[in-house]
Formats: sequence, structure tokens, C-alpha cells
Amino acid sequence: MPDTFDATLTLEDNDAASPLRDSGILDLLAQLDEELIGLAPVKARIRDIAALLLVDKLRAQRGYNTGAPSLHMSFTGNPGTGKTTVALRMAEILHRLGHLRRGHLVAVTRDDLVGQYIGHTAPKTREVLKKAMGGVLFIDEAYYLYRPENERDYGQEAIEILLQVMENNRDDLVVIFAGYKNRMDTFFSSNPGMSSRVAHHIDFPDYQPDELQQIATLMLDTMQYRFDAEARNVFADYIGRRMAQPHFANARSVRNALDRARLRHASRLMQTDSTLSDEALQTIVAADLLASRVFDTDTGQPAE
Ligand SMILES: Nc1ncnc2c1ncn2[C@@H]1O[C@H](COP(=O)(O)OP(=O)(O)O)[C@@H](O)[C@H]1O
Ligand SMILES: [Mg+2]
Repeated sequence: MPDTFDATLTLEDNDAASPLRDSGILDLLAQLDEELIGLAPVKARIRDIAALLLVDKLRAQRGYNTGAPSLHMSFTGNPGTGKTTVALRMAEILHRLGHLRRGHLVAVTRDDLVGQYIGHTAPKTREVLKKAMGGVLFIDEAYYLYRPENERDYGQEAIEILLQVMENNRDDLVVIFAGYKNRMDTFFSSNPGMSSRVAHHIDFPDYQPDELQQIATLMLDTMQYRFDAEARNVFADYIGRRMAQPHFANARSVRNALDRARLRHASRLMQTDSTLSDEALQTIVAADLLASRVFDTDTGQPAE
């Protein structure tokens, strides 16, 4: 598998490249690869950004001109494609690279920034920005900040404050705008000032069925559960059906399905009289999945 970061890895042998080793950044990137299934284009973009920042650092050490990089980003994609999860990792990576003092993430939506009355919005937005300083401000469904149909919408005030802070405090705060791709495109085209300050646009693709299956296996493994062979097959069938139903939300739907399977697994175990083996405590069987409404062919109801 091609690994764009390998090119910079050769720097490791060089003393001048010690920031690369010291940053622990290679570990973080490896962990990202391992703990997140799929997302190849997203991972490649993150490696590119990390490489750029590392080289910037080496250049600065040698006295070359290196303007403060613009690190504001947009993460676009459908629900459950990993945007929030990757934003958390990004905050950590930027902290490790020395670009963020604290490396924490503050996740907000419009309601956290915009007030109900005149004079309410500015203090609200400033309070959130204060909390986020030194880290990442993650604005979910960011396009709700802009409501052109409402002439005196307070969202505009929040946008103006954000713009100012994104410019003046860019060495201490990274803003990530997240949401559906098409709505974000509209948001940026109606807000050119915002668009010009967001340097990195990363698109999160929907997962393929086999990736969703791998995500399920990984989630179960983390919780010390597993599917038996039959359950694995049933879950593949489950994924196919669930994807075709409304409100399918990628990896989030997988997580919800597993939560329900664990509930059914637990009630099934409560009905057995014998001592429960470790194997029984850990194993999700086909019946724990087949009870899902997703397998009711007649209702056609959206269900997890
Ligand atoms: N590539 C992945 N590998 C493993 N788990 C994932 C992956 N993407 C998402 N998840 C899990 O799916 C759930 C939803 O992800 P999240 O980051 O909240 O999606 P979004 O913010 O795009 O709606 C979380 O529990 C997350 O850990
Ligand atoms: Mg999210």
C-alpha cells in the first residue's frame, strides 16, 4: 500500500530531523491507521498536513522563511463517517507537532454560538472561542450559522466574530467546519471570506459494506465481545438491509446495532439456568441480531 509519509521517514536518520522522532507523530499516525478502518483519502491528507508542518519546523530551524500555516479545515461527509473522531485525532496531532498549546477539542453547533436576543450572540460566541483557545473548535453542521432567508439573523454576527478570530489567533486556534458536502459547498460559496480562510477541505466517503463489517469487528473487539461464525454472516446481511433503509448513518448505525445486540445478548443470558461460561459472556450469536426489526420484511420500518 503506498504510504505518502514514507518519503519523509527517511529524514529520521538525519539528526536535523529529530523533531520528527521527538514529536511522537509517527506513533500517532500509525495509531490512526490501525484504529480507524478505511478512510484512505482522509488518512493521506492528514499525513500530508503532518509532513508539511514538520518540514516547516525544520525550515524554521534552519532560518528559512516559513509563514504561519493556515490550518482551518472543513470535514464534509454523511453522518457517521468519522468526522468527529478524526477531528479529535487531528487536535492531538497538531498538539504533538507543537501547533496547538493544549490540543483539546470543543464541539459546538449553531445553538452554542448564536443567541436569541440582540446583544446575546457576541458574548456567547466569545465564550466558546475562549474555551477552544489552544485547541480545535469543531463546528458541526456549520452551514446553519448562515440563514440568508432571515435578514436579521444573529448567525451573521457569530460568523463575523469567527472570521476575526480565525485570522488573528490562527497560531492558537484551529477551526474545523463539519457537515454534509453539498450544504457546506453552498455555505462557502455564500461566505467567500470564510472560504478563503479555510485551507484544507477533507471529504469523508461513505463506508463500503466490508468496511462496516470490519468496523463492527473492531468495535466488538474493543468491548471484548465477538460474533460467532453464524452471527458474522447474519451481520453482513444486516448491513446490506440497513444501508437500504432511511436514516442510515454509516459507522454510527453499526455502533447502534451492536448496542442493541448486546441488550438482546444480555436478556438471552438471563434466561439460561446454567453457569455462564466466558465464551457465552463474550459471544454474540445470530439470534441476538435476527431479532432486529431490520429483518422484518413486512414493516419496512427504519430501525436499527
Ligand atoms: N473508520 C472508522 N473506524 C472505526 N470506527 C469508526 C470509524 N469511523 C467512525 N467510527 C465510529 O463510528 C461512530 C460515529 O463516528 P463519528 O466520528 O461520530 O462520525 P461523524 O462525526 O462523521 O458523524 C463513532 O463511534 C466512531 O468511533
Ligand atoms: Mg459528528
